[in-house]
Amino acid sequence: MDAAHVDDDLVNVLFTEQQIHEKVGELAAAIERDYEGRELLIVGILRGAVMVMADMARAFTRHVEMDWMAVSSYGSGTKSSGVVRILKDLDTDISGRDVVIVDEIIDTGLTLSWLTANLASRNPASVEICTLLRKPEALQMPVDVKYVGWDIPNEFVVGYGLDYRERYRNLRDIGTLAPHVYS
Ligand code: PRP
Repeated sequence: MDAAHVDDDLVNVLFTEQQIHEKVGELAAAIERDYEGRELLIVGILRGAVMVMADMARAFTRHVEMDWMAVSSYGSGTKSSGVVRILKDLDTDISGRDVVIVDEIIDTGLTLSWLTANLASRNPASVEICTLLRKPEALQMPVDVKYVGWDIPNEFVVGYGLDYRERYRNLRDIGTLAPHVYS
């Protein structure tokens, strides 16, 4: 569905399907340049990263391996608890591998900061992060991100994998959710 289908629920459209398509292509091209001549494994973080993984993998003009992890970001507490639990681990042994973690958003940074350390402990050749969106004002943990699509304001955004109560993930655009939806 596109923004017109959920028009009343959005304050604005931040990025259109076309803009997202172009940005994901740019990110893929940058990664492709940096990893020329090396095998590459991209790791998507379920569930939000499904769209960006699917589009990014297809934007590459080279072979790329894909694997997935699922984590519960915050245990039973609030976001700031920093508790991360692995619900689905990689199927791939990443020792000696070049890995790029792909996610759709970095908010507080807790998930990616923890995940990077976790993957780094498995003796990969390298681990880098690629995120489509980042909220600099919400950051609580320093995260070294090599590839960023856009920095955005600290607002509730949905679409292109980003949900509110499991809805809007299949929105083609990315938009700011209207407060009346979640208040
Ligand atoms: C989102 C996103 C990141 C995480 C970022 O996942 O995919 O993994 O939050 O937030 P942080 O920087 O504050 O840690 P979410 O927990 O919403 O799960 P989902 O991908 O299944 O929607």
